[in-house]
Amino acid sequence: MRTDREPVTVIGLGNLGRVVAEAFLRDGHPTTVWNRSAARAEALAARGAAVAGTAAEAIAAGELVLVTVLDPPAAREVLSGAADAVRGRALVNLTSGTPDDAREVAAWAREQGAAYLHGAVYAVPETIGTEQSSLNYSGSEEVHQRWRHRLDLLGRGTFLGPEPGLASGYDVAVLAGMYGAIGGFLHAAAMARAAGIGATELTPKLVSWLTDLFPALSTFAREIDDRDYSGEESSLAMNQSGLATIIRASRAQGVPVTTLLPLKELVDRQVAAGHGAASLARAVESLEGGG
Ligand SMILES: NC(=O)c1ccc[n+]([C@@H]2O[C@H](COP(=O)([O-])OP(=O)(O)OC[C@H]3O[C@@H](n4cnc5c(N)ncnc54)[C@H](OP(=O)(O)O)[C@@H]3O)[C@@H](O)[C@H]2O)c1
Repeated sequence: MRTDREPVTVIGLGNLGRVVAEAFLRDGHPTTVWNRSAARAEALAARGAAVAGTAAEAIAAGELVLVTVLDPPAAREVLSGAADAVRGRALVNLTSGTPDDAREVAAWAREQGAAYLHGAVYAVPETIGTEQSSLNYSGSEEVHQRWRHRLDLLGRGTFLGPEPGLASGYDVAVLAGMYGAIGGFLHAAAMARAAGIGATELTPKLVSWLTDLFPALSTFAREIDDRDYSGEESSLAMNQSGLATIIRASRAQGVPVTTLLPLKELVDRQVAAGHGAASLARAVESLEGGG
């Protein structure tokens, strides 16, 4: 433990909370931990963490308090049971949730006299604190300024702005993109398997093509922001035809098309409205009820 390091508290010692606590312990911070099931704190105690009997006791011990529990209801439950302890604390909530969840906890924290920063983590426990870890923050700029060098122990941090829901707004959108990509990958693996191709044979080719394709997303993004879909490189009509081919191939292989049909429907709506020559990015308008 180093005398120049501030006391830190970690609430919730699941896969993420455990490595968060370890990062602060490694850097010499007096670290107090609390977990609903006490057994999970034992390994950290052996590494020098102080184990609090209640969440309120743990929060009272730290200047910086990190919350890493399963979901927003769990965060609400733990924090509301420790309301008296949070006054004057810098509360950094790394629990994933919606923008409204973050705004709600931020408003609650303000009422209790605590400063609130919400964090979205882009890492897995193994990569916390490495180059492969990054975090987006929104909420109290003062907390971010004051603690950013310590928070950098977890990964590269970016402050997005004072609106507490902003980091979660980015997060849910990024994760929606991620799940879309995973849906595509699983469908590709099922089609490959049906054709006698191993997923491990397919994947390098898929990754190579996606890596070449990804820069096009920035072009699509500009078109979407400008609502100008005049780009001619990848038209809706061409992609409608391409999707129809893949759907036919899937059906012929006995692979259900449940992941492809929703995208085809978005494209179909735009083509039916007379936009076949427009850029594929125009399909986003189908998600806005824009016809
Ligand atoms: N793991 C990751 O790679 C990762 C990456 C980015 C973001 N996150 C986010 O970080 C958060 C924690 O993830 P995790 O992987 O650490 O989850 P986890 O391993 O499942 O741990 C969940 C933690 O929440 C606690 N908990 C659940 N319900 C509770 C309640 N009602 N009251 C008090 N404590 C409760 C659990 O306590 P018990 O031990 O008593 O069950 C445990 O400490 C999640 O919101 C997750 O989305 C995780």
